[in-house]
Amino acid sequence: MPLFYRWTTVILPCLVAALLAGSGCEKQSTAPKKSAPKYQPITAPLDPFAVNQRLAKSVNFGNALEAPNEGEWGLTLEARYFQLLDEAGFSGIRLPVRWSTHAQNASPYTISPAFFDRIDWAVEQALDRGMAIVINMHHYEEIFTDPPSHKERFLGMWRQIAEHYKEYPADLLFEPLNEPNTNLTSPLWNQYLAEVIAVIRESNPYRTIVIGPVDWNSYASLNKLVLPAGENNLIITFHYYNPFHFTHQGASWASGSDAWLGTTWGSAADMTALQNELEVARNWARTNNRPLFMGEFGAFNKADMNSRKLWTEAVARQAENRAMSWGYWEFGSGFAIYNLSKNEWYLPLLKALIP
Ligand code: BGC
Repeated sequence: MPLFYRWTTVILPCLVAALLAGSGCEKQSTAPKKSAPKYQPITAPLDPFAVNQRLAKSVNFGNALEAPNEGEWGLTLEARYFQLLDEAGFSGIRLPVRWSTHAQNASPYTISPAFFDRIDWAVEQALDRGMAIVINMHHYEEIFTDPPSHKERFLGMWRQIAEHYKEYPADLLFEPLNEPNTNLTSPLWNQYLAEVIAVIRESNPYRTIVIGPVDWNSYASLNKLVLPAGENNLIITFHYYNPFHFTHQGASWASGSDAWLGTTWGSAADMTALQNELEVARNWARTNNRPLFMGEFGAFNKADMNSRKLWTEAVARQAENRAMSWGYWEFGSGFAIYNLSKNEWYLPLLKALIP
């Protein structure tokens, strides 16, 4: 600050004020008070392989914010759940979010401010602990049955989400759509994913985006993905629930699954099948030079605990050996690693994930 300017704007007024009021000068300041920004926005291109490391060991908060309304599926998030995951050594969180029941049906598809507040709270719980967090769009069921009627709403919701979080740091990732399926076939999905990425890029040129293939994000459908040329800041995701008759035995939403009760896992043939399938994913990733996030895997609580432990351990280690990050499905419901009624970990599962 030039001396003359400082004399006229700081020192002189300060002396006058001191003479008049008998006060000192020490509390006077010309600098406008501006609180430091809470987070560092992303200002330069990111390496998605490096960002993927941040998701290395993640957990899904399933059955909370992707229920039609939070709490309706028995789980309401609490700050201590984030703390538990952080302290147990997890690096990231995948937050399934059902935006579609909190947005208007007509253009501009306004998302409820109260719902944004709740998602902000969850995002900040993770970021403030130094954990990465993926927010997705989960259970937008209508777009799977009638894609053309819902495309504009899908893009309109993402335009708002992207704008809302554009100043947030690199540890926040966007996943445009969980498990495209049914009538959202690969030719359509390849078109929609290019459009949603373009919408997100309008406000978030550098944020890492997580994209998965059709057929409920099956590893076997990675080769159906067509990604926009020149778009490098992507992490590719797939979900792994094989053998399905083991992981979904007794699951009410998997028809006929009561007949699978008693299916165990852990033979040499089981292990070979797992390795072969993850190898398909790795080969795709190598050929296409993309980082992979196994964003969901888990075995339902109707399977025996020993098999669940063996499967969870094997899947996590086989993924890690292939440089994949992972997100266990899920924290506190039917696939839980944490027993909410007893306030304790299911230790065999926790140890399987974080030895
Ligand atoms: C679905 C959940 C389901 C889980 C395992 C998720 O993608 O959204 O509802 O429990 O997969 O089947």
